[in-house]
Amino acid sequence: MIKTVNELCEEARAGHYAIGAFNASTLEVTKAILQAAAELKSPVIIETSEGEANFEGYQIFADTVKDLASELAIDVAINLDHGKSLESIKYAIESGYSSVHIDCSKMDRKDNIKLTKQVVEFAHSRGVSVEGELGHVGGSSEVHEGEQPKDGTLTDPKEAAEYIKETGVDVFAGSYGNIHGMYKDAPHLDIERIEKIAKESGIPLSLHGGSGIPDSQIKEAIKAGICKVNVNTELRKAYKESLEKNLRGANAEIVPYKYLPQVINDVKEVVKKKIILFSGL
Ligand code: G3H
Ligand code: ZN
Repeated sequence: MIKTVNELCEEARAGHYAIGAFNASTLEVTKAILQAAAELKSPVIIETSEGEANFEGYQIFADTVKDLASELAIDVAINLDHGKSLESIKYAIESGYSSVHIDCSKMDRKDNIKLTKQVVEFAHSRGVSVEGELGHVGGSSEVHEGEQPKDGTLTDPKEAAEYIKETGVDVFAGSYGNIHGMYKDAPHLDIERIEKIAKESGIPLSLHGGSGIPDSQIKEAIKAGICKVNVNTELRKAYKESLEKNLRGANAEIVPYKYLPQVINDVKEVVKKKIILFSGL
């Protein structure tokens, strides 16, 4: 069944676990994510950034997920991740996404609130839930040398509460020491900040940049109020490594439907480990 990110986050909050939100941009990764969830009998959020959706096709992605979710009998939310404009948000919703994340965290606070409010109005009138962001989560979903969150980008709990009240977003993504991508040095999440934001905001919190965060910190963050964890880089890495391994050698298989199942399997194993970690299964 197709649900909203908000519905799955509220279920997670009530059950004291976090729901995994995984990015896909190919059919193999889409299958890997949904099959992992089905094998663990778990709900899941599957998402594309604008770039991923432009590659795969918004409509193709949403239709494929709907077909597979019904075939596998699992609860799935289809989310636009880091939507940057009202146009892409509208396009995703019209293509059948059940949820959107509007990320104008690089704008000043006033402009961020203005655009987020427009998104909330459009999305809510169509039964679509909205994740908003204040305080910037930097980096990109790739393997990097070394970087830490920049000073002054962490979310202030009071400002988060005001932003949530003014915009009416359903789920909140903050900056609490997390960063997109994988780095030589693991990030240090500010657990107290997560606790304060969860208390002041009253809505489910989302943790971006889930790749490369040590399991112990993920567990603490969920206890502190995180209901959704986004993971992309670790899936991209598994996909590339598996593909390289399966295509290596003079006698390597050349039939895609013969070597791609192994790639799906390798990505699926990463997704399953994350779902187990987030859900405490
Ligand atoms: O929005 C996507 C996520 O925040 C992914 O972050 O690539 O560090 O796992 P990650
Ligand atoms: Zn993110």
